[in-house]
Amino acid sequence: MKLSFKDILNKKELSRDDIIILLNATQQESKLLFAKSKEIRLKHVGNKVYLRGLIELSNICKKDCLYCGIRKSNKHVCRYNLTDEEVLRTVKYAYDNNYGSLAIQSGELDNNIFVERVNNLLIKIKELTKGKLHITLSCGEQSEETYLKWNKNGGNRYLLRIESSTKELYNKIHPNNETHSFEKRIEALKALRKTGYQTGTGVMIGLPFQTTENLADDLLFMKEIDIDMVGMGPYLEQKDTPLYKFKDSLKPIEERYFMTLKMIAVLRILMKNINIAATTALEAIGVNGREKAITAGANVIMPNITPAVYRENYMIYENKPLPSSKEILVPEKRIKKIGYKIEWGDFGDSAHFKKRTQK
Ligand code: 5AD
Repeated sequence: MKLSFKDILNKKELSRDDIIILLNATQQESKLLFAKSKEIRLKHVGNKVYLRGLIELSNICKKDCLYCGIRKSNKHVCRYNLTDEEVLRTVKYAYDNNYGSLAIQSGELDNNIFVERVNNLLIKIKELTKGKLHITLSCGEQSEETYLKWNKNGGNRYLLRIESSTKELYNKIHPNNETHSFEKRIEALKALRKTGYQTGTGVMIGLPFQTTENLADDLLFMKEIDIDMVGMGPYLEQKDTPLYKFKDSLKPIEERYFMTLKMIAVLRILMKNINIAATTALEAIGVNGREKAITAGANVIMPNITPAVYRENYMIYENKPLPSSKEILVPEKRIKKIGYKIEWGDFGDSAHFKKRTQK
């Protein structure tokens, strides 16, 4: 007997085929999906929304990912590095404004200077904030030794997106060489988890060549590696990148947006107590994208607090929002209006991580 959409939503365990059906939900069916993910979200992580003040440390990158606007070969990018003073001033802003957490994101470098710099910044941030801010790092693939060192000195969480868990697709969107190896990315994720980080990953949704089956496999991959947090968003074409030539084969932006919301909802059903971010890329294309993501199951927002003069240079994709007022930075009223609550001053650690490490 063929199960109805509703029956599938009420199953205890979702198979790959079930997930594909949920991801293919029509607008009408998606109402049921979002109602279910909301119920699960409220039960397992409540109506809280955690904040991470996002600092984009540098756009200098050794990688040449075929989708990314700050890839090494893009000569149109004005490269920058925040000074330590700028970083600390921004950290102080977050601390003074009752953020409980920061995310430090950077183009990927693994030389000694970079590794030591991040390390020293972590030490200084801890001093400045008396350990009252938890820190998510998102600085790419590093050696286990580096991961360990950063963790010891204050990196609590680490976000390393797998981008796509399907190896063939991963290889289509990255140069095929040692610097961009799928296996190394998987190893890095394992090393992060072993080191003791709350470990996060994520994917882009609506990539050229990507199928719903690939997306279902991405969700199963996250479950399989028992991830603590996820940041995923729509793929947005960037004209200075090699993947741009496939722009005519992409799904319309509204569909990528809708699929992202469905991915968030199904992930919430699959992994009830993880942290899921409402990413900037969603905000870039959808009116109130962040709120919609929260309604679908996301429980983290990452307001960009990078000093304004640099923000325009961190253009991973086009039309990235450049917020200028605090109201846009933390849309508190809008979040309250939809029934959710910003947890000011909270570390916002992953409940999933707490549970798995308390065992
Ligand atoms: N569209 C959407 N997301 C992108 N990213 C990089 N380029 C793009 C793009 N064109 C995402 C990747 C990366 C993160 C920093 O930004 O997933 O991990």
